Amino acid sequence: MRSKLAITVAFFGWLIFFSYIIYDYYHYGSMLLEHLLTPGTLFENFFHFVILSSLIGSNITAYLISQRKRLLERTMVSEKRLNHMLQELRATLDSMPYGVMLVDKDFNIIRANRYISEMTGISLDELPGHKCYEVVHGSNDFIERCPLKRSLMSKLTESAEYYDKQRGKYFIVSATPIFDEKNDVIAYSHPLIDITELKIKELSLQRSRDAFFNILKDIHTAHKELQDIYYELLIAFSTAIDAKSPWTKGHSERVTNYAIMIAREMGIDSGDLEDLRIAGLLHDIGKIGTYDVILDKPSKLTHDEFSVVKMHPIKGEEILKPIKGLRRVLPIVRSHHERFDGKGYPDRLRADEIPLLARILFVADSFDSMTSDRPYRSSPGIEYALSELRRCSGTQFDPMVVEAFLKVIEREKSPR
Ligand SMILES: [Fe+2]
Repeated sequence: MRSKLAITVAFFGWLIFFSYIIYDYYHYGSMLLEHLLTPGTLFENFFHFVILSSLIGSNITAYLISQRKRLLERTMVSEKRLNHMLQELRATLDSMPYGVMLVDKDFNIIRANRYISEMTGISLDELPGHKCYEVVHGSNDFIERCPLKRSLMSKLTESAEYYDKQRGKYFIVSATPIFDEKNDVIAYSHPLIDITELKIKELSLQRSRDAFFNILKDIHTAHKELQDIYYELLIAFSTAIDAKSPWTKGHSERVTNYAIMIAREMGIDSGDLEDLRIAGLLHDIGKIGTYDVILDKPSKLTHDEFSVVKMHPIKGEEILKPIKGLRRVLPIVRSHHERFDGKGYPDRLRADEIPLLARILFVADSFDSMTSDRPYRSSPGIEYALSELRRCSGTQFDPMVVEAFLKVIEREKSPR
């Protein structure tokens, strides 16, 4: 019991009580207890009741006084803390690098931070009561796409980006409803964030990205043009190879087309198709060093002459070797005369030892040879060529390749 008043009240209660006890003891001596329990007269009964009541009353009063004091002390501490928290909150709000307003449902500012005050030129004390759109946007009504207006409807946080022409700045503005314990909206938190720097960086990034994509487009166009030139050169080159002899005109291009058709039928991937296309156009490049008299000889070649012809795959590989981009094509050119049974040239490879693309090229090359006129014979015809492919499937040619080619030819022949 820390209150002096409470101690005094309780003290006087006890003082009266003990004074009466002493008084009664003086009069009744050893009969005191009996007198207290069974007072003689109605007056004494009443008097005892008053004495006891004053003792109890004074103690209850003292207790209530001390409780009141404690409550007052607690209230003062809470108020102090609340004031301190309010000061901290205001200081925090004012130190924020963006604007914050607390507004009511009618767009009236309840409180705004220092940022808003500096931005609008209106003092912190004068801001409450102003409409937020008046001080921020300088308009008589809310702006289009105003997030606060939308938040009034949705009761959710809404936000929008806008450009402030007056200040030449970009802002993100949002509105978040604040609810009371009954879940009714009592106010809105309405922050305003300056994103001008970010926006300028974003725009600059966008310009850089567009410029980058334009460069990529130019590179792609240039690459495509270069690729076209590359293929045109390859075709020109293959035409030059075939032009060595009047009998092989258009041979390389036709072989390439047959080979691509077979490869597609066999499900060869696009990377290998490109290798096959180049190999098809250049497969006989080694014949550049072979004398025309041998190539155009109307009669059967001698053993020595055929030995010279058999060198053209190796010569072709040697010619193309210095070109780095054609490394994958070299084994196809070298092995395009290898037979499935191992009796071909130049390395007498067999079956799977022969690169698959070379096996395809060999079938395409043989088919075109059999369907073209030669100095020593005229073309035996397509049917003969197909029957030869069937007959030599598994010996001269890879059966899988022959099967794929026959399917392609069947499809080409059947009416669409
Ligand atoms: Fe050849």
